Amino acid sequence: MAGRQPTVGSAEHRQLFCRSFIDSHLQFEPAQLPWPELDPTMLQRLREVPFWQEVLYTEMRAIRIIEAFAPTVPDPLVREAMELMAEEERRHERLVRHLIARYGIVIEAREIPPLPSDVERTFIDFGYGECVDSFLGFGFFRLARESGFLPPEMFDALEILMGEEVRHVLFFVNWMAWHQALRGRRAAASRGLTSAWHYARAIAALAGVAARNARHQGNGREFSATQAAGLMPGFTMGGLLAACLEENRRRLDAYDRDLLRPRLLPALARVALAFTGRGGRRKRGDGRAEVRCGR
Ligand SMILES: [Fe+2]
Ligand SMILES: [Fe+2]
Repeated sequence: MAGRQPTVGSAEHRQLFCRSFIDSHLQFEPAQLPWPELDPTMLQRLREVPFWQEVLYTEMRAIRIIEAFAPTVPDPLVREAMELMAEEERRHERLVRHLIARYGIVIEAREIPPLPSDVERTFIDFGYGECVDSFLGFGFFRLARESGFLPPEMFDALEILMGEEVRHVLFFVNWMAWHQALRGRRAAASRGLTSAWHYARAIAALAGVAARNARHQGNGREFSATQAAGLMPGFTMGGLLAACLEENRRRLDAYDRDLLRPRLLPALARVALAFTGRGGRRKRGDGRAEVRCGR
């Protein structure tokens, strides 16, 4: 649906971003998804993917944060949407645990540290972190699927989790703008500066994960983009950025045009691609788009 875009911070805007989130919630249970049987080679590949522990940890922490913040939200419709988001994150944890158990993946236990006392700020940091993780994750997911690293049926089963993260990002971006507008920051430039600051924090946090990963050797502690090169032959940063841009656009295009979209990361990725002059998309012989990896 595309119509007159509601004023950011208005009741109409709140109704739009909450209702589009609540109304697009899907009913399913992870154990009922069509998980494929894997041959020994594929099973070994799946088990050697180094980030399952990080994925599980991220979902568990997401639950903790949203469950802490949602009850403090005064608006009943926004609170209902956030409680539904927590329910989806709990289902993500069940999905990852099911995958780990079904395919015999070995991970080390990892505790969630206590949350900081400022739950609103923690939720906002978490939201920007999801924006960064999703932007990169959608691109990785596309490249991994196209590489044939695992059977397509495995990506089909995991697609439902990716699809829900798109909704979480859209909800967060709109909630954040609405939340700021209620506090007097109605100007897009002012909100943009705040976003840039939070994105910088989220990217720094992700860089911290990558740096820690450089000190660990596999076995699921953390995962960095550089490790993807080992998982997917032909992987390059230019190809990844092109895939991220295309996948984010494709996934977000499925939702109401009147919702605000994340803009900073795609803009930065486009600048990076233009600067390097590498990466892009071309048509394959079968007509499907394919990532062209720069060097
Ligand atoms: Fe999640
Ligand atoms: Fe999420």
